[in-house]
Amino acid sequence: MTAPQPTFLWGASTAPHQIEGNNVNSDWWLYEQRMPHFTTSGDAVDSYHRYEEDMRLLADAGLNAYRFGIEWARVEPLPGVFSVAELAHYRRMIDTALRLGLTPVVTLHHFSSPRWFIEEGGWLGETAIERFTAYVTRVCDILDGVEWVCTINEPNMFAFMIYMAGAINADAVPEMDTPTVQREDGFVLPRPTAEATARLIEAHHTARAVVRERTGAAVGWTVANLALYATDPTHESALLEERHAREDIFLEAARGDDFIGVQAYTTQAVDENGPVPHPPHPDNTLVGTAYRPDALGIAARHTWELTQGVPILVTENGIATDDDTRRIAYTSEALTHLFAAADDGVDVRGYLHWSALDNFEWGHWEPTFGLIAVDRTTFTRTPKPSLAWLADVARRGRP
Ligand code: FCB
Repeated sequence: MTAPQPTFLWGASTAPHQIEGNNVNSDWWLYEQRMPHFTTSGDAVDSYHRYEEDMRLLADAGLNAYRFGIEWARVEPLPGVFSVAELAHYRRMIDTALRLGLTPVVTLHHFSSPRWFIEEGGWLGETAIERFTAYVTRVCDILDGVEWVCTINEPNMFAFMIYMAGAINADAVPEMDTPTVQREDGFVLPRPTAEATARLIEAHHTARAVVRERTGAAVGWTVANLALYATDPTHESALLEERHAREDIFLEAARGDDFIGVQAYTTQAVDENGPVPHPPHPDNTLVGTAYRPDALGIAARHTWELTQGVPILVTENGIATDDDTRRIAYTSEALTHLFAAADDGVDVRGYLHWSALDNFEWGHWEPTFGLIAVDRTTFTRTPKPSLAWLADVARRGRP
């Protein structure tokens, strides 16, 4: 008799700051006001109050998993002061997911931090690890029944935000936009600094130990997979150097994890000077990136190799488009590449699409990634055809 296969997770992902609304105690609430070209999140899509409706739409369609985050700025509004009511709110979210038959995949940190934490010195400050560990420890109290915990979302993207926070706090305007919106002039995000990288790895390993000690959940982090490639074979060494600093060092740090979150959207060319800004093209997505559904297969294979066999959960994959037919085409092809990797032996445990809802894309509202549209005045949710389509793939078990 063969052992029963664990259920493959089919679902969608969100992040608290992007959907909840009025996350006024977070650093991002400040950044979105201070950064040029940014608009504000405001009510976002009011998922703080409407999470049950959001989860129900996914469950009713036929999906079996939902990734959402816990907002540190709400749970710990002042240093060392934890809100019992907010912890109860997130516990209700977990209970709601379980009741609806959705496996909760819980992210502890998704780009936003409490403002007091940044004012105290932030991620590079002396108290960073101690503060983050205290928050994680407290959150573990509400994680009973949760099987998947992501410590830090995209540390390799988040490292740029540490730089942005530093500039804003020094009253300077940083020379950058969000990680997912490329400007016309082709600005490329700077490499994560060695200091930020080391600090985030330390934070992840510390949080991992706490989650393992206090819960029964599998724990990992989610890395932005960039599918970097050299424009020319002579740029191979530049490629390896870029890839190490921007991605591989974070994958290597996941070697002792229970799973790794793969997050892939597109590919990125590298020449002898580093990443090459992707030129404007009619096929580009709404965030200016290349239309590359094969990125997910590349990411899964590379992650499997670099982590030396850590099980993979796709925690984000999707496309910024206002054409839902294109979303279906992109996702269909992405899944074909993912399952080809799985057929070759890569251990893939699930696929969570980014995103459940159209949401606040870190300073911008135009890039729509959702399986569900939201009217931002009435907050009415309207599932797009892609939601039923993805649930249909889930029912079949593969693309
Ligand atoms: C990832 C982020 C997520 C969203 C998508 C489009 O970098 O984790 O919050 O912005 O990109």
